[in-house]
Amino acid sequence: MKYKNLIIFGTRPEAIKMAPLVKAFLKNPRFETKVCVTAQHREMLDQVLDFFEITPDYDLNLMKPGQNLYGLTADIITGLQPVLEEFQPNYVYVHGDTTTTMGSSIAGFYSGAKICHVEAGLRTFNKKSPFPEEINRTITGHIADYHFAPTQTSYNNLRNEGISKEDILITGNTVIDALFESVSKVDNIDDPEIKKLKSEIDFTKRIVLVTGHRRENHGQGFINICNALKKIGESIDNVQIIYPVHLNPKVQKPVYEILGGIDNVNLIAPLAYPAFVWLMNKCELVITDSGGVQEEAPSLGKPVLVMRDTTERPEAVDVGTVILVGTDKNKIVRETIDLMKNPERYKEMSKLHNPYGDGKACERIVEFIEKLA
Ligand code: UD1
Ligand code: UDP
Repeated sequence: MKYKNLIIFGTRPEAIKMAPLVKAFLKNPRFETKVCVTAQHREMLDQVLDFFEITPDYDLNLMKPGQNLYGLTADIITGLQPVLEEFQPNYVYVHGDTTTTMGSSIAGFYSGAKICHVEAGLRTFNKKSPFPEEINRTITGHIADYHFAPTQTSYNNLRNEGISKEDILITGNTVIDALFESVSKVDNIDDPEIKKLKSEIDFTKRIVLVTGHRRENHGQGFINICNALKKIGESIDNVQIIYPVHLNPKVQKPVYEILGGIDNVNLIAPLAYPAFVWLMNKCELVITDSGGVQEEAPSLGKPVLVMRDTTERPEAVDVGTVILVGTDKNKIVRETIDLMKNPERYKEMSKLHNPYGDGKACERIVEFIEKLA
């Protein structure tokens, strides 16, 4: 008998981080592996599915414009019922901390499957930041049967919450599996987005790459961020800011209102993963509030200013590639200028580090489950 795996995800970062696991399980004849997307994201999810050539077996197609947490959570749980009843998986895999993660772990638990949590154990210990992700991840951690912790810190967090050590495996983060697989390809593929970037942007300039979307930064936080970026554009010679803007309307509105039409700020649509990786490799530094980008950039030797007050990923802060700057306009501007005008500091911060993984996380997860099955 083959053991049945159901891998569930719904947003862009979950898809990037689960894609290598989907591939690893599909290659393994001991398992029948199916993919279910909630489509909490649509366009941004489909970009990832296309690049990694994953065709979901089930697509709940849930995304609504301007969706809220109440309706989305309910839709995920009820939407998964028929899928779980039809396929009857032995193992359900969820990733990280989104509403898809939390809803799918509850639905999977109701179905009687064993729940496997990838990227488990990250904590800020502040339930409002990141909101609602800190609580999503904590709830999932207490529903899950098996916990794939990316680092020793996340392992320790789980142990401190009473999870037994036999049920936790330190794997490294699967984001590094995806990054290593992609970074070797992006210079040689014929990618229309990369071509477009090359033709539209002057890469002899000093490139600052920006992303942002966190809910706790919506409103005043984003206004501060945009004003800081405007000031950075005015204060540093020859700087070019490139900002692929997240599709959330709460992000699009302030960003286009405040930064639209400024010459040295390129506001562009979210990039598919290969073009984004290519651009990360080309830039001088990254300013972001993203979890995934915070993990990828140190592996490419790029300093990161994180526009958050807390992080559940302290490892790169500890090795010195990441600094937390919050959403205070003056602090963002001051730290960026200091870094860009101080070559010694820049050199120190841009040393290559891989605190989040070695590219073999998925191999370790498959091996762990094979021993159980
Ligand atoms: C979600 C996750 C967050 C994750 C982020 C990654 C929750 C609560 N939030 O935040 O943890 O870090 O994804 O990007 O789970 N939209 C589109 N097309 C898309 C994607 C989004 O139009 O492909 C717009 C829609 O109007 C949608 C809105 O963005 O309603 C918000 O999407 P949602 O998934 O609820 O929140 P995010 O801010 O993307
Ligand atoms: N990313 C992408 N295109 C973009 C911006 C980001 O493919 O235009 C990738 C990035 O490489 C990382 C992931 O999306 O792997 C991060 O997603 P996001 O910031 O939306 O979510 P978070 O990681 O904060 O949950």
